[in-house]
Amino acid sequence: MSPARVHNASPSLTPADGRERFVTSPYYRGGGRVDESAQGFTVHAEFHLQCEVRLVSGVFDPASPDLAEVYRPFGRCVAIVDEHVHRVYGDAIAAYFAGCGIELLVMVCRALEADKTLSTVARIVDYLGPNGREVTRNEPVLVIGGGVLSDTAGLACALLHRRTPYVMVATSLVAAIDAGPSPRTCVNTDGLKNSVGAYHPPALTLVDRSLFVTQSAKTFRHGLAEVLKMAIVDDEALFTLLEERGPDLVTSRLASAPPSAAAATDEAIIYRTLRSYLGHEGPNMFETYQDRPHAFGHTWSPGFEPAARLLHGHAVSIEMAFSATMATVMGWISASDRDRILNLCQRLDLAIYHPVITKVDTLTRAQQAMRAKRGGHALWAPLPRAAIGQCDYAQDISDELLKETIETHRGLCTARQNSGGIDPLLG
Ligand SMILES: NC(=O)c1ccc[n+]([C@@H]2O[C@H](COP(=O)([O-])OP(=O)(O)OC[C@H]3O[C@@H](n4cnc5c(N)ncnc54)[C@H](O)[C@@H]3O)[C@@H](O)[C@H]2O)c1
Repeated sequence: MSPARVHNASPSLTPADGRERFVTSPYYRGGGRVDESAQGFTVHAEFHLQCEVRLVSGVFDPASPDLAEVYRPFGRCVAIVDEHVHRVYGDAIAAYFAGCGIELLVMVCRALEADKTLSTVARIVDYLGPNGREVTRNEPVLVIGGGVLSDTAGLACALLHRRTPYVMVATSLVAAIDAGPSPRTCVNTDGLKNSVGAYHPPALTLVDRSLFVTQSAKTFRHGLAEVLKMAIVDDEALFTLLEERGPDLVTSRLASAPPSAAAATDEAIIYRTLRSYLGHEGPNMFETYQDRPHAFGHTWSPGFEPAARLLHGHAVSIEMAFSATMATVMGWISASDRDRILNLCQRLDLAIYHPVITKVDTLTRAQQAMRAKRGGHALWAPLPRAAIGQCDYAQDISDELLKETIETHRGLCTARQNSGGIDPLLG
């Protein structure tokens, strides 16, 4: 390794237990104690991580300090960039680092859902590792892309040196408000989605909503479904903002330029979604608890999304609409709140119905799988309760309740004459 490539930007010494200790990376701390007895030893260990989510604008503008501040101490930046994103922003990214006098080394990575595999992770580890760019365990890797790349490259960073920090520039709405700052990094195996992974959030996530403008409406809608999810179960004010902006949200991709009233609302929508998401995820970064409102829309959909070959955003919205109906059947929310939810889904061109939701077998199988994933005891299905912006958890959902909900929901959706204004397979 040449001297220019010895990276040791943060060799901070910190006092712990009266001893000075060398910190491997400024983003992580650990501690512990050992109880000793004649029969053996018990270790009690703690791990502390720090991760920041920062709202920025013009992240690749040469005047923007956010990336330069991180990478200047290292003299270089090793980046993994989504292939499509590289096509659109590659020149701007190269110009940014050249302008800052920081060497940029890029792996351009195809990151389709089909690429969310362990072999993609292995290729990224090879690129970053001892036979590649020799990234050290305190040198943050830069990941630029959507949710597929954040899951895949994030897992590669989790595996490299057993834990290597990374910075995420979220280029899609899903990556900005959900997958990017999420602690979960994962890939699919044997057709099972997100089945293998590690808890390894980015040290820093940069959210620049102006980047969403180049996203397709189809993939942008996946993100919109996740925003709506947080609004329904956690933030009524966010729900009202979504109602105010309506279909224009899709047209503008939440990227309307300031100064304008629309820009202020778009900014507020991103901020409130992150506030809501992190408010629940932040104190539960290792999923040690199952009362997670942001699992709304994700109890049955993993079971019927692949079976019906639905696009993810539509699968989530179909479950959200179905859940709103179920909450009404259970007496948890009023019919007028349910209709507000169905109306907003339809105004945002998110599907509310698909025949797959009427198959009791598919739904009960999905419940069994989810029960196992959530600890094996109960279902922990978040449903709106009392009002929009609040939720509770259903633990046992009987076949009778499923059947009554199916009939009611089918009737409501037939009266609305369509499944949400758009084909959930193509839109
Ligand atoms: N880890 C988690 O907690 C978590 C949470 C939610 C979703 N996810 C995962 O995220 C994935 C979905 O994320 P996604 O919707 O970002 O999909 P994605 O990463 O596939 O991106 C969608 C498409 O848009 C392109 N793209 C991204 N940003 C762009 C931009 N600014 N301009 C032009 N093209 C752009 C990508 O190349 C891709 O083709 C799924 O695999 C899902 O499982 C993970």
